[in-house]
Amino acid sequence: MTDPAATQARDAWGTRAGFILAAVGSAVGLGNMWRFSYVAAEGGGAAFVLLYLVLVAIIGIPLMTSELIVGRMSQESPVVAVKRLGGPAWAPLGWLFVFCGFGILAYYSVIAGWTMRYAFDALRGGLPTDAGAYFQSVASGWPAIASHLLFMAITVAIVVFGVKRGLERAALILMPVLFLILVGLAVWAASLPGGGAGYAYYLRPQLGELLDPNIIRLAAGQAFFSLSLGMGALMTYASYLRSKENLAKEATIVALADFGVAFVAGLVIFPIIFNFGLETTIGLGREISDNTVGTLFIALPTGLQSLGSLGDIVVAAFFIMLFFAALTSAISLLEVVVSAVIDGWGWRRRSASLLFGFLIALGGIPAAINIDFLGAADAFVGNFLLIVGGFFTAILVGYRLIGPADAELARGMDNARARAVWAGFVRYVAPILLLVVLYFMMPTAWQAFITIVTLGRG
Ligand code: TRP
Repeated sequence: MTDPAATQARDAWGTRAGFILAAVGSAVGLGNMWRFSYVAAEGGGAAFVLLYLVLVAIIGIPLMTSELIVGRMSQESPVVAVKRLGGPAWAPLGWLFVFCGFGILAYYSVIAGWTMRYAFDALRGGLPTDAGAYFQSVASGWPAIASHLLFMAITVAIVVFGVKRGLERAALILMPVLFLILVGLAVWAASLPGGGAGYAYYLRPQLGELLDPNIIRLAAGQAFFSLSLGMGALMTYASYLRSKENLAKEATIVALADFGVAFVAGLVIFPIIFNFGLETTIGLGREISDNTVGTLFIALPTGLQSLGSLGDIVVAAFFIMLFFAALTSAISLLEVVVSAVIDGWGWRRRSASLLFGFLIALGGIPAAINIDFLGAADAFVGNFLLIVGGFFTAILVGYRLIGPADAELARGMDNARARAVWAGFVRYVAPILLLVVLYFMMPTAWQAFITIVTLGRG
């Protein structure tokens, strides 16, 4: 066996800001930009937003802290780390992480490919008048495969350059631009005359919805996906940390930034939808699961068409922002797989990124051909398996590793009482709530699994 450490020095972040922006870049992605606002509106508006924030606080932040702890403590890829720290019985958890990274990136890249295509066509002189037909034509089949492959190529090109020159530099450039575009769009959306009804729909407090047991499933699934939890993505990022920062504080910053972006994205989307009377186009009022991932891609361009060239600019800005958000998330998904191959098998970064990027690109082709396959992969891998991974991460850190984990957290956080609060959430609150969530997720997960198997065969 080759000792990877002997053949190549392990990557590391250049600055704390670089690490935080990259972690926020991982979290902020397609999940924030429209899925959050959509789920929130359907799930009870302001009441849902509060429930979501509570879940982020009591499960999201403690679990993210746990992932960061394991990463910094091990200085290794999660796959190697969970086996070495937890013992051989924990090795399957590491494989689950890599499987999720592979599986999510495969379909995520397809959606990201659509955003690229939209941005490109909008810049080239506007999108075609019939946005529905346009979406049909670019979102599946050869055009979708082509943009998916291009997006994967860009992702691989960044990951090849490594943590400091690839991941960190991409985040330092893309994230500020993303924030500027988002704020610009929110200000513009506030000027729409019919926007008030959109804010009202988005934020109306509907307590009744919260009594539906499915709401906790939706909120938890959304929180895990949006915060990049449950598959070692932020664990991998923290394994490139050398300094003694307070990991609970870093987790809080990342989680709040992620929530902030999701919330503001809703303040862009809903005024547009209501100002242009698109409520029925996108099927508001139906079950969320009825809606395909494509709705926003149809509604937004349709609405903005009436604005002429100003509309083209807004559409271009929106999809460029989505593309940037997707890119910094895709990088983190690929990095989980690549770091496992570098640290576990001693491969060079370049060969690991090229080969596994290529395999993931191939793995995404079924999702590029069939949107139903894409939706099922999202429900099964992007929702259910993440919760499974998060549950076992909580058990690993909260029980098997609690002593060393507490010591690692203490390096940047000397308040013992605060650490005890963290431990309580990881040991009791998170596992119990996640079991409840898993229970409610069973039917949809099973359904999605069947869809994957049947469509995969056909
Ligand atoms: N959080 C990203 C989003 O909201 C997607 C993502 C990136 C992700 N890395 C992840 C999801 C790791 C789960 C796990 O779009």
